[in-house]
Amino acid sequence: MANLQLHQVQANLEKLKMYRMAKLLPDYLKTAADRNLPHLDFTEGLIEEEIAFKTEKAIKHKLRRAKFPQVKTLDTFDFSFQASISKKKILELANLSFIDRKENVIFLGPPGVGKTHLGISLGVKTCEAKYPVLFFTANTLIQDLTSSLADRTLDDELRRLTRCPVIIVDEIGYLSIDKLGASLFFQFITSRYEKGSIILTSNKSFSSWGQIFADSVLATAILDRLSHHANVINIKGESYRLKDRKRELLKEEKEQ
Ligand SMILES: Nc1ncnc2c1ncn2[C@@H]1O[C@H](COP(=O)(O)OP(=O)(O)OP(=O)(O)O)[C@@H](O)[C@H]1O
Ligand SMILES: [Mg+2]
Repeated sequence: MANLQLHQVQANLEKLKMYRMAKLLPDYLKTAADRNLPHLDFTEGLIEEEIAFKTEKAIKHKLRRAKFPQVKTLDTFDFSFQASISKKKILELANLSFIDRKENVIFLGPPGVGKTHLGISLGVKTCEAKYPVLFFTANTLIQDLTSSLADRTLDDELRRLTRCPVIIVDEIGYLSIDKLGASLFFQFITSRYEKGSIILTSNKSFSSWGQIFADSVLATAILDRLSHHANVINIKGESYRLKDRKRELLKEEKEQ
C-alpha cells in the first residue's frame, strides 16, 4: 500500500517535472525515517536538490547553445603573466552589471595575449547567471548574416540576435571584410546599439579599423556605436602560446 502511494507521489512529481525529487524521494524517506528528520528539513533538502539539478541543467543548456569553441574560465587565467590587464577590472566585469547597462566589452591586443580566453570566460559567467549568450567569430557572424540576406530573413535574424543579451564577436581584424560584410556588420551593430551587449575581440587598435572594412565611412560609424558605451581592455605583452612553446622547447633541450 505504502509502495503504491510512493509510486503515485513519484508519478505526480514527474507530472510537475520535478524529476530529481521523484528520483530521490525513496532515499530521502529512508534517511528521514532512519535519522528521525524533521518534516521541514526533509522538504527543504528535497526541494534544494531539485533547484540545484534544474540550475545545472539550465546552465549546461546555455553553454551548449552559446557554441563556444572551447570553455575557458577566469580561474584558469594567469593574471600575473599579463601585467597590462587589471584583474580588478576583469573581476568587476565578471559581476555582469555591464549586461544590465547594455554596455560592450572590447578586448584589444596582439595574438595570444588572452582576448578570446577572457571573452569566453565572461560568456561562461553569463551562462552561469542563466542569461543566453551566442559566440561568433567575425567571419561566422558575417556568413550567418549573408545567408539570412540571401534567404530574405535578415530582419528576423537581426531580431533574433537582438533578443540575446550577450553576443561575443571574436577575431575582428584578422580577415578583411568586404563592402557587403561591412554593411551587414553595421546593421548588426546598429540593431544592438543600446539594446544588448557585445563582447568583441580584435588584434587591431581602433585607429587601424579603417583597414579591416572595405568601406571607411561604415568603419567609422561601426566604431562610433561600438565604443560609445564600452569597457575597453587594451592588452599588451607576450603571447601565452609563445610561453607554452618556450617551455616545451626547454623541456626538449633538457631531455636531449
Ligand atoms: N594569462 C593567461 N593565463 C592562462 N592562459 C592563457 C593566458 N593568456 C592566454 N592563455 C591561453 O593561451 C591560448 C591563447 O589565448 P587566446 O586564444 O585567448 O589569445 P588571443 O588573444 O585571443 O589570440 P588571437 O588574437 O591569436 O586569437 C589559449 O589557450 C588561452 O587559454
Ligand atoms: Mg583569439
